[in-house]
Amino acid sequence: MVCEGNNKSYLKSQNLKIIGPSTLSGEVKISGAKNSALVLLAASLLTDEKIILENVPLLTDIEKMGNILKNLGVKLQTQDHQLIIDSSNISIKELPYELVNGLRASFFCIGALLARFGQASIPLPGGCNIGKRPINEHINGLKALGAEFIIEKEIVKAKLAEKKSRLFGANIRLNCPSVGATETLIMAASLARGRTVIENAAREPEIQDLCQMLNKMGAKIYDAGKEKIIIDGVQKLHGCSHKVIPDRIEAGTFLIAAAATLSSITVSPVIPNHLEAVLNKLEESGSKIIKKGNSISIRGKSIKAVDVKTAPFPGFPTDLQAPFMALMTIAKGRSKISETIFENRMTHVELLNRMGSSIIVKNNIAQIDGVKKLKGMTLVGSDLRSSAALIIAALISNRTSRVFGLDHLDRGYESFEIKLAQLGVEIIREFNKEFISKSDKSKSHLKKNLSEFEAA
Ligand code: UD1
Repeated sequence: MVCEGNNKSYLKSQNLKIIGPSTLSGEVKISGAKNSALVLLAASLLTDEKIILENVPLLTDIEKMGNILKNLGVKLQTQDHQLIIDSSNISIKELPYELVNGLRASFFCIGALLARFGQASIPLPGGCNIGKRPINEHINGLKALGAEFIIEKEIVKAKLAEKKSRLFGANIRLNCPSVGATETLIMAASLARGRTVIENAAREPEIQDLCQMLNKMGAKIYDAGKEKIIIDGVQKLHGCSHKVIPDRIEAGTFLIAAAATLSSITVSPVIPNHLEAVLNKLEESGSKIIKKGNSISIRGKSIKAVDVKTAPFPGFPTDLQAPFMALMTIAKGRSKISETIFENRMTHVELLNRMGSSIIVKNNIAQIDGVKKLKGMTLVGSDLRSSAALIIAALISNRTSRVFGLDHLDRGYESFEIKLAQLGVEIIREFNKEFISKSDKSKSHLKKNLSEFEAA
């Protein structure tokens, strides 16, 4: 379960020290949604006017996406959680592999670049710890809109069909409701000639957020959030100001942590119906949930085993499967968690078992027999959500744990340990001087201000 990432010094240079068992109490402020902010950054490439994004989370994934945009010539101005994006002076060139490596969302720029400039050249985003993550739905959909592709030495080169000056609308039916493919095609279709209909589209809240921003920019997108999305292409999109929605996965992680530690906390701001499937499972497992305006309060009570099956929105999110499994390790009875979206998303099981849980996995279905306690130990996160699961497990353990591999955690949780400390957890980030490299030092800036990013 050791991360095989290329920055091994970062793996060892920082860790979280967590003294368990913990109880959480108080209110936690939820940051802007990572997956929204990433796609909104890609969408800003569709216009030569300024886009002002508010509530942008301070995360390394956002920093990476910012660097990709900067490489294309985009000017980024940042202040705290605000990002001003000026894509008026872009030069279309091949993006270096080092920039896109490990950031799946980098590929989502392809639709916007093709629609605005008629060409794009992006390296394949590469493998990923949680599974293969193909791009066939993106490519087939863009082909239907009139793009032509060559894939050469791992680089996807796209251009408009000969003698065409714009993409053109088409009826597209996705074979699976891919979030990224739906977003790529919406962006491309918004500047295409004529009407595009996307069937079997993904319905995630981040897609609705994208469509809301594009409509503010002058796009004509109807029925975002439904299985069939209609887009009437326009000639030009203009600038706008937009606030990123709250991160439902971050909120869900804190709620699960509270349930696991039998604690009472409030998360806000959130949009409660973005979390319906998760709240239902938390209630079923014994927690009391109170929704009020843009906040959710939870009171953790004795934990019952419940079965969970991940599914596209509005189903139970795959991104919360690992944290929920950490909760089920100490539930009363036997639970079953089925992962249906990604084929390699149960890497946390091995370490949870070493901490004392009783989990058997077969064909991506985990059977969990609840135990009374877990024991703290040294842990290494191998992907973003597994890292969160290990931290929840450390919170319910009866000894000190040290969690390494924080490069994964920092991709998607803003100031995670600071927020947990504010809720009363004994947690600190330890730095090992021996392994600290220059890039690690720049990563520690993340906690302060987006304007200190190299991407800024
Ligand atoms: C997005 C989220 C990620 C989340 C996932 C599912 C971002 C940046 N990431 O990832 O956090 O876990 O949605 O909710 O928004 N597939 C294909 N062909 C394709 C594309 C996808 O077969 O061309 C399959 C994938 O292998 C996977 C399923 O579709 O089994 C869902 O993937 P997808 O929704 O595309 O995930 P991402 O958009 O990459």
